[in-house]
Amino acid sequence: MDGLNAVLCSRNAHKARELETLLPGWTIEPLDRDDYPLETGATYYDNAALKARFGHAHTDGWVLAEDSGLEVDALGGRPGVLSARYAPEGAPAVAKLLGELEGIEERRARYVSELVLLSANARELRGTGTLEGRIAHEARGNEGFGYDPVFIPDGEERTVAELGNGWKAERSHRARAAHALLSALGDAPATTS
Ligand code: IMP
Repeated sequence: MDGLNAVLCSRNAHKARELETLLPGWTIEPLDRDDYPLETGATYYDNAALKARFGHAHTDGWVLAEDSGLEVDALGGRPGVLSARYAPEGAPAVAKLLGELEGIEERRARYVSELVLLSANARELRGTGTLEGRIAHEARGNEGFGYDPVFIPDGEERTVAELGNGWKAERSHRARAAHALLSALGDAPATTS
């Protein structure tokens, strides 16, 4: 199937560009509204579907939504679906996380990404991706965003912020979710519209 023109249910232009890289041939424009519903879902899928249905009600054509987060085993899976609200984006969130894990050696964690795509007639396709790893003892690296300076993927010694955006484009939870979504789309009947 050729690339799609979709709106992304997010005001985050950075996320739209990242997803355009992960979904080659697609055109993805952020839906810039100030009345998005609160992300009250219990799961990433709930929140992604909430955003996608909101977008579907306000546009014609394909609608894409994504929800993601970081789950830390030693914190009982927190911050999880609340990752974006754990602390302000960037260094304060990383500092808070390192503080909570001080003295804890069991640092297993994972990133999760859930993508929901709705067609013009509200047919739903989804893709999930996870990236297993552990939380470093100190922040390292300059690329990526959010928790990337302290997340070390399995099989690596460097953090995602050190591994860089090229690595993320191939191996991240979002890259895996995009791949799963493309497979779901490829398997869907050609009449999907
Ligand atoms: P949302 O999906 O916009 O609700 O926010 C997800 C939150 O999870 C972000 O604000 C980050 O804190 C965290 N997160 C999700 N994906 C990543 C990633 O690739 N790198 C670093 N942090 C991430």
